[in-house]
Amino acid sequence: MSTRRLIPGSAELRAEFPILAREVHKRPLIYLDNAATSQKPAPVIAKLVECYERWNANVHRGVHKLSEEATEHYEGARAKIARHIGASDPAEIVFTRGATEAINLVAQTFGRTRLAAGDEVLITALEHHSNIVPWQMICRERGAVLKVVPITDAGDLVAGAFESLLTPRTRLAAFTWVSNALGTVNPVVEMTALARARGITTLVDACQAVPHFALNVRSLDADFLVFSGHKVYGPNGSGVLHGKRALLESLPPWQGGGDMIASVTFEESTWNHVPHKFEAGTPDYPATVALATALDWLSALGWDAVAAHEHTLLAAAEEALGAIQGVRLIGTPAHRSGVLSFTLDGVHPHDLGTVLDRMGVAIRAGHHCAQPVMDRLGVPATARASFSVFNTLEDVAALAAAVRETKRLFGA
Ligand code: ALA
Repeated sequence: MSTRRLIPGSAELRAEFPILAREVHKRPLIYLDNAATSQKPAPVIAKLVECYERWNANVHRGVHKLSEEATEHYEGARAKIARHIGASDPAEIVFTRGATEAINLVAQTFGRTRLAAGDEVLITALEHHSNIVPWQMICRERGAVLKVVPITDAGDLVAGAFESLLTPRTRLAAFTWVSNALGTVNPVVEMTALARARGITTLVDACQAVPHFALNVRSLDADFLVFSGHKVYGPNGSGVLHGKRALLESLPPWQGGGDMIASVTFEESTWNHVPHKFEAGTPDYPATVALATALDWLSALGWDAVAAHEHTLLAAAEEALGAIQGVRLIGTPAHRSGVLSFTLDGVHPHDLGTVLDRMGVAIRAGHHCAQPVMDRLGVPATARASFSVFNTLEDVAALAAAVRETKRLFGA
């Protein structure tokens, strides 16, 4: 890994991403779909290769040297990731395949044991499907009620609605930090405090927050926090559930298998201590170790530099797209991070996405796994540009030029 501090948007930083050297439809790749999945810098790719070339062996199971080394790498990644997000105890970090699995883990353990008929789970209208459907499923199973904090036309939570929907029956409030569809940044510190004051457990979906700003789970003080590795420059198949230790210890396991047990007989099994109780089966230790590398790489850029650069890109994109007649920015939240959703009059977002792709510009078009957000704002889909540390103002200009060209082609 480079020891010099890389500057977001610089040629030197862009050179860390091998994929940016390729062309798409004979055009240079302009990748603006970072909210769907991030590209991977060379040190992350190198860490995966290093694992398979140097120390690959199953973790926690072998007495041989390679297994010891793999275990050291894996548990070292746990300690490192704990430090990155401000957790005081590595045992509070459960590795999962991603945020979706982490939320399902909480639904299947906390939900199954703490929800009774008539209890309530509170989510918001900004959630990704992965923070809606697991709660729908467990509420149905337990006879509990799913309640939803509404949003305004701008894409912000309706002021005061979160607090007024917390009732004596609310057992869990689960909400996103940053909306993947609109980029709305929710006031999660205030929200967790309001829930905590009423003894209500909280879960924060930090998927779209981790790539953009520093997290500190101690100051946030949520009971659970989840994120996916693949959205933060790390490998696919890596993810994190942070849970307060006493809470994790009080919950049953959800998947049975190797490593999550202390002892097994045909009559009965007993459970390993946390976090291993929640990590049945051989984990994806190469991906997890490389996720720690990704967080090292990102934080070494300096969070102020990351935020300033991405803010500049978002502001420039808002201005450039907003200046095109027929472009409608979808959602104008008070605080936005990472993504910009928009439509172009007379052109379906899927067509817009396809035409942009022919010009080398990769965006996402669709409902962004957040159909209720689309329904609420009265659009079937949007085009969405999402930014990362390697994007530049030239990328923003290319996006705007491609949208103008699409408008011309469609006579829109
Ligand atoms: N959740 C991902 C997105 O927002 C897939 O695109």
